[in-house]
Amino acid sequence: MNSRKGVHDLGQNAFNDTFLKACRKEAVPYTPVWYMRQAGRYQPEYREIRKKYSFFEINENPEVCAEVTRLPVEQLGVDAAILFADIMTPLQPIGVEVDMVSGKGPMIRNPIRSLADVERLHSIHPEQSLPFIGETIQLLREQLSVPLIGFAGAPFTLSSYLIEGGPSKDYHKTKGFMYARPKEWQALMDKLADVTVEYLLYQIRSGAQAVQVFDSWVGSVGAEDYEQYIAPTMTKIFTALKQTGIPTIYFGSGTAHLLNIWNGLPVDVLSIDWRISIDEVRALGIEKSVQGNLDPSMLLAPWELLKNKVTAILDQGCKQPGYIFNLGHGVFPEASVETLQRLTQFIHDYTKK
Ligand code: CP3
Repeated sequence: MNSRKGVHDLGQNAFNDTFLKACRKEAVPYTPVWYMRQAGRYQPEYREIRKKYSFFEINENPEVCAEVTRLPVEQLGVDAAILFADIMTPLQPIGVEVDMVSGKGPMIRNPIRSLADVERLHSIHPEQSLPFIGETIQLLREQLSVPLIGFAGAPFTLSSYLIEGGPSKDYHKTKGFMYARPKEWQALMDKLADVTVEYLLYQIRSGAQAVQVFDSWVGSVGAEDYEQYIAPTMTKIFTALKQTGIPTIYFGSGTAHLLNIWNGLPVDVLSIDWRISIDEVRALGIEKSVQGNLDPSMLLAPWELLKNKVTAILDQGCKQPGYIFNLGHGVFPEASVETLQRLTQFIHDYTKK
């Protein structure tokens, strides 16, 4: 039963800090695991709750939001919880009109096209505009026996929704804005960096024990341009967070070409996808903690194939301290609870010292 609570070999109520230890490159009794988007539509219980509440209604109701956050911890036995919210959550208070369209993603009613559009975004006062986030975090800290991860979107990924008006495949409008209007771009990056920092510091003050910055779509930018147009903003964000002493994680997909630059950022953990192996990451000379990197599509593979892939990933990840198992991107609605339960148990058993 203990494994279901994520407290292997510890008493029922003991705090499982395996994930935090791995973030800090300390020795761990087994490899900690959690899954990006571990709360969501693949869970029958989540689908039931969504019949009663919209996405943002869940987000704004601390009791329900805490319940949804705890659901995968109790169901899968993972070693960390991630606050149930969205990268769009802090954008509504700064004046962005966003609808969450099921199966599609966030849609923006007032996209950004000019400097005037950037200037009309307000600054954020999370205690006033997002009190439910702080309340949910406080509630979860009383309820959880695993660490709580807070999160926010990175400026590039947020701006891709703001500029495109919704999800995109190629980010032409976003990168077009970046190249054609560098001054407006910088103003937007500065504004979103402030939002990200203020929102994450608020989550940390409320009790978040680690924070992950999601830059899901930044892999669409080449290395030189990342260095010029984006890296200074990310340096600013992680420098501000560093003062808290809380572990920080930077996630992106398709970012193998950016990892040398990421290695120079003041961030603790790099979260990578399946397009690069952990051995290859280590061969680049990266000594930071690494998180990843199973292709989420593998969750639909036969168990033997999945097990072999996961074994190979673990063998590479466990060569040195500072490894957290995760997917290379989020869980999707067609995944099954049973597969994720079996996978979590396997990772714990296989890596147990
Ligand atoms: O990991 C967790 O369990 C915490 C919750 C979480 C959500 N979104 C809940 C959510 C997190 C960490 C996110 C981050 C997020 N949101 C990202 C970065 C991670 C990534 O996947 O790249 C991005 C790009 C978004 C934007 C967004 N919001 C997308 C692409 C979608 C999916 C659209 C869909 O319907 O599949 C959303 C909606 C969303 N965010 C849902 C959930 C559970 C689905 C809402 C629903 O219909 O119930």
